[in-house]
Amino acid sequence: MTRATLEPNRAAPPKTSGPEAVGVRPSVLVVDDEPSIRDMLRIVLRRDGYDVRTAEDGRQALESLQQGPVDLLLSDIRMPDMTGVELLRAAKDLNPDVVALMMTAYASTETAVEAMRLGAVDYLTKPFNIDELRLKVRQQIETRRLKQENVLLKKALESRHVFANIIGRSSPMLALFEMIEAVAQTTSTVLITGESGTGKDMVARAIHYNSLRRDRPFVALNCGAVPETLLESELFGHIKGAFTGADSNKKGLIEAAEHGSIFLDEIGEMNATMQVKLLRVLQDKRFRRLGGTDEVQADIRVLAATNQDLPARVAEGRFREDLFYRLNVIAVQLPPLRERREDVMLLAEHFLAHYAAEMGKPVPAVSEEAAALLSRYHWPGNVRELENVMERAVALERTATVRAETLPPALRGGAATAAGAAGGGGALPDLGEGFDLEAKGDEFYRHYLGLALERAGGVQVKAAEMLGMTFRSFRYYAKKYKLR
Ligand SMILES: Nc1ncnc2c1ncn2[C@@H]1O[C@H](COP(=O)(O)OP(=O)(O)OP(=O)(O)O)[C@@H](O)[C@H]1O
Ligand SMILES: [Mg+2]
Repeated sequence: MTRATLEPNRAAPPKTSGPEAVGVRPSVLVVDDEPSIRDMLRIVLRRDGYDVRTAEDGRQALESLQQGPVDLLLSDIRMPDMTGVELLRAAKDLNPDVVALMMTAYASTETAVEAMRLGAVDYLTKPFNIDELRLKVRQQIETRRLKQENVLLKKALESRHVFANIIGRSSPMLALFEMIEAVAQTTSTVLITGESGTGKDMVARAIHYNSLRRDRPFVALNCGAVPETLLESELFGHIKGAFTGADSNKKGLIEAAEHGSIFLDEIGEMNATMQVKLLRVLQDKRFRRLGGTDEVQADIRVLAATNQDLPARVAEGRFREDLFYRLNVIAVQLPPLRERREDVMLLAEHFLAHYAAEMGKPVPAVSEEAAALLSRYHWPGNVRELENVMERAVALERTATVRAETLPPALRGGAATAAGAAGGGGALPDLGEGFDLEAKGDEFYRHYLGLALERAGGVQVKAAEMLGMTFRSFRYYAKKYKLR
């Protein structure tokens, strides 16, 4: 029985002919009022493997085009009623991508030129050499096919440049996109590492929103930002009376993230006690609320991130080795921006477009010199720094191009920085423990915006002028820093 059902299948002819093969044949619409030419072209082109349709005038040709597009329109120019040029114009209205090859009985180059102007790709003078015609048809069809392939390829490539809003086309980033996709399918704990500003936050979200848990909560907790004494109650919740001030029951973030994902950022900052408690949750999938006696089940996926060297902290005895291994089931490492320079301009353009839209300005171009500086810089603050530099450039640039002069001194190379520091720029604070560039930058902006506003007697246009920025940018920053 089995044999009987197998046999016919095996005997089936290979799929080289049949309807599928016909469907992929390139199509040509031949338009000529001369029946002998129509017949001749039909025979020759069919033999060359094209799907040939014919029409004896422009009206019939348009009807045929309305039924379905063709890969090539091969039309006579001189025809009664509607000329080939008029037909081409109408065909372009129908489909702007139509490819047309015109034929003209006389060397009436004027109309041929007119047809070319309208977008015909080439023309043939009658009486034509049949081999020349076959060649031109083949060339046009081939060009069109390559163009279509390019469009598809470009689309496919572009979609690989952006994954869940994460932008990058360098090979480490393409590998990262694949990693995120794969990791999202699992429920394993993931440890995301990378320097500050490399996109760890974005990756954590991308993993959650591509996972089966995407419709469940994503809860983030910055372990470094919560005082140690509060971290436990934040994570596990507490019951009324657990400690002074606990005047009601409170759900912790682990409960809030039930069936979803919890993102523990700056995990390296967690103290020893909390490390033990977290380890228990990861091992037993159970925890106890602060002051509570009942054990609670936890169905959460843990995503953790750090910009510290955790193995080093393990070696120093400052991070539990067992917890490290529990977290590091899947390791996702984000490369610093200076190790993927191909991404710099892609990201720069993305941020320019973003901030230009936000500030209601046209998207500026980037001068060659500025682009060179951007690509060369070592980006210690990674993508976040690049984003800030682009935001600043959109705000400060008053021409249609971001020029090297508009970029911060740090980017303008060693010479400029050294000169700046020597020439009185030395009042700037040095790097050191607790240095926070963003906070310093904010402070700087706030100071000068406030100062200008004060000196301008509250007149914003005047203040903007004093700061050398447009009113639009001023308004943007005034809003950002909540200045009145
Ligand atoms: N590949 C990227 N594409 C687009 N934007 C990015 C990319 N990487 C980072 N960013 C942007 O840069 C900024 C910093 O990213 P993110 O907060 O994810 O970094 P982080 O690694 O978590 O930094 P930190 O260690 O300081 O917390 C964000 O505004 C983010 O949107
Ligand atoms: Mg972060």
